[in-house]
Amino acid sequence: MSGLCDGRVTVVTGAGRGLGRAHALAFAAEGAKVVVNDLGVAPDGAGASAGPAQQVVEEIRAAGGEAVAHGGDIATTDGAASLVATALDTYGRLDTLVNNAGFLRDRMLVNLGEDEWDAVIRVHLKGHFLPLRHAAAHWRAEAKAGRTPVARVVNTSSGAGLLGSVGQGNYSAAKAGILGLTSVAAAELGRYGVQVNAIAPAARTRMTEATFAGDMAAPDDPAAFDAMAPANVSPLVVWLGSAACAGVTGRVFEAEAGRITVMEGWRPGPAADKGARWTPAEAGETARKLLAGAEPPQPVYGAP
Ligand SMILES: NC(=O)c1ccc[n+]([C@@H]2O[C@H](COP(=O)([O-])OP(=O)(O)OC[C@H]3O[C@@H](n4cnc5c(N)ncnc54)[C@H](O)[C@@H]3O)[C@@H](O)[C@H]2O)c1
Repeated sequence: MSGLCDGRVTVVTGAGRGLGRAHALAFAAEGAKVVVNDLGVAPDGAGASAGPAQQVVEEIRAAGGEAVAHGGDIATTDGAASLVATALDTYGRLDTLVNNAGFLRDRMLVNLGEDEWDAVIRVHLKGHFLPLRHAAAHWRAEAKAGRTPVARVVNTSSGAGLLGSVGQGNYSAAKAGILGLTSVAAAELGRYGVQVNAIAPAARTRMTEATFAGDMAAPDDPAAFDAMAPANVSPLVVWLGSAACAGVTGRVFEAEAGRITVMEGWRPGPAADKGARWTPAEAGETARKLLAGAEPPQPVYGAP
């Protein structure tokens, strides 16, 4: 049977559980060889275990696919460099990077500690930048050697990054940063054959279980569509990670249940130009007039 990703090698970070696991299984089912990265941490990022990554590797192999585990921390230079090296040393190539790993330390801003800020910004934002940077260096070298790749990167943002989420200032800032990184990476890397897109997923995982347990529960009837299963997000990720998505880059999609939505980003709204410096009072009066004709922002998740 031929698959969408036959002959390709895909790295998925944080693939020991939840969405990353579903993506790894879905890539393997479409013929990709998969590097299953996971540090095996607790929901708040504490600890480490090789178990989850190895388990997913075994699942892929049991289904007839090819996979190898990588247990490094993707927010470190060593972890990111060895992740790319694992793909190249094991399979001789790297075609797709899915940045997905992360964890939460939720608090209202007035209580948010510096360590909680740093940990969440680090794992999501630096944890996207470093694997991207090391994979991109490989792809640029390939392009310069006359072997321009058909390379793909899928980054993982969140509704929290798009609209903001109360109690998640650290996470929302990191996930919004990932959108900016995606735009720059798409613009910089296109010439080397690399397309870069982002998703904002929603699914039932341990990350959302506590907050959305009721909304995300599996249906009682096992034959019914399990709308919030992580595997529902993966088909779009597989397509964005395949050669089939040629020409699609720098875009952001929401993916949840059976729904795919293209997100349309910041763009200029009503404007005024005095051709000279405003006084503060004039600037305020003008801003109010402009706001009256502007689209109101979408509500922040969890806002009163
Ligand atoms: N579940 C949702 O509805 C939802 C919504 C929006 C965004 N997301 C994003 O999707 C991604 C996956 O989340 P999930 O819901 O599957 O959570 P999850 O906790 O089930 O899985 C995350 C995995 O990342 C791993 N990980 C954490 N830090 C790591 C590190 N430094 N190096 C390597 N691995 C590390 C964890 O061990 C874990 O297995 C995250 O980026 C999350 O922010 C999820």
